[in-house]
Amino acid sequence: MAEYKIALIPGDGIGKEVVQVGRQVLEKVAAKHNFELAFTEFPFGGEHYLKTGEVLSDESLDELCKHDIIYLGAVGTPDVKPGILEKGILLKLRFELDQYINLRPVKVYPGIDIPIKNTTPEQLDYIVVRENTGGLYTGVGGIMMKGTEDEVAIQSMTYNYKQVSRCLRYAFQLAESRPRKTLALIGKTNVLTHVFDLWDRVFHEIGAKEFPGVTREYYHVDAACMHMIRQPERFDVMVTTNMFGDIITDLGAETQGGMGMAASGNINPEKTKPSMFEPVHGSAPDIMGKGLANPIAAVITVKMMLDFLGETEAANDVDSAISAVTIDGFDGLGTLEIAEKLLETL
Ligand code: IPM
Ligand code: MN
Repeated sequence: MAEYKIALIPGDGIGKEVVQVGRQVLEKVAAKHNFELAFTEFPFGGEHYLKTGEVLSDESLDELCKHDIIYLGAVGTPDVKPGILEKGILLKLRFELDQYINLRPVKVYPGIDIPIKNTTPEQLDYIVVRENTGGLYTGVGGIMMKGTEDEVAIQSMTYNYKQVSRCLRYAFQLAESRPRKTLALIGKTNVLTHVFDLWDRVFHEIGAKEFPGVTREYYHVDAACMHMIRQPERFDVMVTTNMFGDIITDLGAETQGGMGMAASGNINPEKTKPSMFEPVHGSAPDIMGKGLANPIAAVITVKMMLDFLGETEAANDVDSAISAVTIDGFDGLGTLEIAEKLLETL
């Protein structure tokens, strides 16, 4: 019997509430589909930092590496300055564990109201492959003459061939596995002529040589945002840089019914280190502890995790359970009621 070691980082705020639901769902399908789960809970997040001074030590990172998967809720508390937890936990994990792909599906579950006019739920079904360890997020740059009129602040978008080619190869493989076999590169070749010259060149090189069956398309990022609202049916698989991917996936999340429906996987495709799955929403301190958090994004995240582990039947089961809940509408239902419905269906 397969056994998976899962590191749980519930984090702060509603992260704790939704991860609890995700865990119950995991336990339920594991029993049903005959695999075993061993959970270890880790305390990282804002609260832990304020209590102990630890953000995420290298020793803790080594501990996390003893697991197959990391399941993260959300980190962030209002009393910690922006940047500390984001860089010290989230980005540290993505970078150190070489999770160079951030997968973010945009798909509408039955019964979910979408805010785009003239678009049917079937027309909204694409997935964004966001490069996850490079670009503006590497923090190359600095500040000079701070506090004077001559102050200079630099933050550079850096990419090397290896980062670009491995990300594109992953995106091509994904596109090849889907019926439409179409991959759209999202860039800004008309202005950011250095970085997107590299992306565009490698895109066509790899596409022509290794994936002749995949149709290649290109959109400037601004135009892509427009089409994501006007004609989202254009898209099947989109691939883009870290920063653009961050921005367009919030837009995508809104079109699929909001942050409560947006899941993501930070993937290390070679499985040399654990991949990490997290709902896209944050810790939402304003609603924490009230039992109001929508746990569905965290459960879609579980589905992605199961797919990644190769537990396809269990993943499909979770997906059907989500649909069974969304189809009836869940407005007015609290976290625990939604959890109950999910578990009942399973
Ligand atoms: C996300 C978040 C993070 C990001 C922040 C919290 C560092 O917005 O996962 O999209 O920018 O990647
Ligand atoms: Mn974001």
